[in-house]
Amino acid sequence: MIQTIDLCKTYVKRVQEKVYALKSLNLEIEKGEMFGFLGPNGAGKSTTIKLILDIIRPTSGKVNLFNIDVANPESRKKVGYLPENPSFYDYLTAEELLWFAGSVYNMDNAGIKKRTGELLELLDLTEARATPIRKYSKGMVQRVGLAQSLINDPDLLILDEPTSGLDPVGRRKVADLLLDLKKKGKTIFFSSHILHDVETICDRAGIIVEGELRFSGKLSTVLHQSFQDFEVVVQNISEEIFKEILDKDINCHREGDTARLTIAENDLWQLIEFIKSKNLSLFAIEPKRKTLEGLFLELINKRMS
Ligand SMILES: Nc1ncnc2c1ncn2[C@@H]1O[C@H](COP(=O)(O)OP(=O)(O)OP(=O)(O)O)[C@@H](O)[C@H]1O
Ligand SMILES: [Mg+2]
Repeated sequence: MIQTIDLCKTYVKRVQEKVYALKSLNLEIEKGEMFGFLGPNGAGKSTTIKLILDIIRPTSGKVNLFNIDVANPESRKKVGYLPENPSFYDYLTAEELLWFAGSVYNMDNAGIKKRTGELLELLDLTEARATPIRKYSKGMVQRVGLAQSLINDPDLLILDEPTSGLDPVGRRKVADLLLDLKKKGKTIFFSSHILHDVETICDRAGIIVEGELRFSGKLSTVLHQSFQDFEVVVQNISEEIFKEILDKDINCHREGDTARLTIAENDLWQLIEFIKSKNLSLFAIEPKRKTLEGLFLELINKRMS
């Protein structure tokens, strides 16, 4: 559905000053996938999205949507787009904005009317449908932005930070909406700073740092397979035993008579024998899973080392 080939973008700020915003990006997004695009501020996420939609042109490389070069407007017929921090003509009401968006896609009036009713309901904007957008809260603007991106029932949705400005309930609703669209076979590509949203709803994710894709793949595989350590929680720990544990060079965090020990898989059985021999009460053994936040920070910090 989306294919970027050696995609590069260099902005020229002043005569001698260049910003290498995107350095040879190669991405393929398959039909029906939900892909999360992560990266710190200024990493090149919005640049990538604008290149994918032909809003800006690449310095080199190319993009295909539905196997059609994005230079051809035909490639965007079944695409919906939510820009970052959307700012619409604010004298328009939600109904008028959706009518405008529908007309851009050559929809007929009856089609626009039907779809507008459904989308306003879906995004909790029915009551505000005749209110000018300038009177909307930030979250409402974001929701009307999502509504306009869906007006043409797109097969491919490209969203630049769709949950930005939404409260936790609003974020959950958007996540559910995206999951529903995925169930209907739609393909979704969205950027986000909210790692939890990406971790819970995406099939695959990409992490971009300073214009370079540092990771791309299935999060479940990376996050679940990458544990090497276990956390062992032990109760009834006396001062003496605590000292013995510290002497063994085990990473230990103590709260009252409970200790949380972090141990490598290879040393786990030896520790369990020790716990048994000292008659301590073993409360839990849990694999220490890598978190998306950990992976994200690891990849960002690579540039500093
Ligand atoms: N029109 C422009 N002219 C010059 N530099 C630009 C322009 N647009 C973006 N940049 C620069 O390109 C880099 C990537 O910006 P981009 O907006 O793609 O980042 P982003 O990952 O979307 O960040 P954020 O998370 O803050 O939205 C940044 O260094 C930014 O300053
Ligand atoms: Mg951005």
